Amino acid sequence: MRVLVTGAGGFVGRHLCEHLAAHDDQAIPIRWPASSAEDRAKSVDVTDAQAVRDAVEAARPDAIVHLAGLSSVAASHRDPSRTFAVNALGAVHVLAAVQQIAPRAGVLLVASSEMYGPLVPGSRATEDSPLRPVSPYASSKVAAEVAGFQFHRGRSLSVVSARPFNHVGRGQRTDFVVPSFAEQIASIRRGRTSPVLQVGNLDAVRDFSHVADVVEAYRLLLHRGEPGQAYNVCSGEGRSIRSVLQRMIELAGVEVRIEVDPSRVRPSELPYLVGDPGKLQRLGWRPSRTLDDALSEALAHGLASRGVRVDFVTSGERPSTESSLLGDGASSQEGLLTVHRVRHTWDPQRPFCPWLASIAARRGSDRIRQGQNGRCGSRCGAPGAPSAARPAPRLRPGADCGSTAASDFL
Ligand code: GDD
Repeated sequence: MRVLVTGAGGFVGRHLCEHLAAHDDQAIPIRWPASSAEDRAKSVDVTDAQAVRDAVEAARPDAIVHLAGLSSVAASHRDPSRTFAVNALGAVHVLAAVQQIAPRAGVLLVASSEMYGPLVPGSRATEDSPLRPVSPYASSKVAAEVAGFQFHRGRSLSVVSARPFNHVGRGQRTDFVVPSFAEQIASIRRGRTSPVLQVGNLDAVRDFSHVADVVEAYRLLLHRGEPGQAYNVCSGEGRSIRSVLQRMIELAGVEVRIEVDPSRVRPSELPYLVGDPGKLQRLGWRPSRTLDDALSEALAHGLASRGVRVDFVTSGERPSTESSLLGDGASSQEGLLTVHRVRHTWDPQRPFCPWLASIAARRGSDRIRQGQNGRCGSRCGAPGAPSAARPAPRLRPGADCGSTAASDFL
């Protein structure tokens, strides 16, 4: 299936394109803005109706997933008109272009749980719950969904709406809560900043899913969603932001002082937002990742963005080609941050593998030994580390050492 994905350069878009490719669908990504010269050809501003028509014309898709939009609830309070222009008008441009050029293509609009507005604590929103938005972001999403169903009823377009609740994973921007905490924890963990963590409202309760489960839901909806219907994408479990933060602190093993930053507290806030996933589950959706998986990945990503490249293996995931280089122990979890493979450069002029040596010095560890004859020779104790039975490969100067380290060393 040829699937045009708008917003393909964003957090969910990148995961979705990977997921489609893994299932032999052809993702045709469009994004905005262009992130490089190479990207420019695929860059489309959804507020430009002609550009959207041209993109649909060029793609001739069997299906469209419309993800492009402004996704920050907090930022929407600062610029409601732009939020509406991109989220509501952008969706109308996509729908109109599909109707004109590819009227048989299925459209999945990605709306939001924010549309439900205030819920009674302890309840779970179903797709029949009233929509009572309290932010410009939420009302722009309501407008987009209403337009989608109007195109379905009035022009027979095959439009399905997904209403995702919060989702987490690798690669989310730090204006969202989990990556913001992860980035701060990474800084603290590496001794770069004082151990103070800035937060907003920790009492809010949200329903979190792993982004990989969310993109599986989107593909399922393309195939099995009923046109004219909305589907919640959620776990059904409410968690306070405080408990999520607490868990991240435990996983990372840091001690922090928590400080409320008034600029992170929103002018209007939904205290409780939890959904009922029953309708999507009846189509066959079975999420398979835990919140710990998602939080571990976000933490590893935070560390990676602080200058350490970290590849990780989580429970329930098959080891990737790269992680299988770790050896037999790679797919088993070591604590919850699992085992990491860390790239660094081997310099044969120096007696120690410099990266591991610097960690040894910091930790006062005697588990890292001097390399010999251009071999790393490290004995960090993690699965897959060089050993007598599995010696480290010979390395050229500047090559990746290939050593592994347990998260404990980061
Ligand atoms: N961003 C942020 N930063 N949020 C914080 C912080 C902080 O330091 N401290 C507490 N929070 C609270 C927010 O007030 C909110 O209640 C909750 O954490 C989640 O905030 P976000 O991660 O920014 O997400 P969101 O709930 O506003 O919106 C996300 O989920 C929606 C679906 O429910 C976005 O992904 C939306 O695009 C999505 O539609």
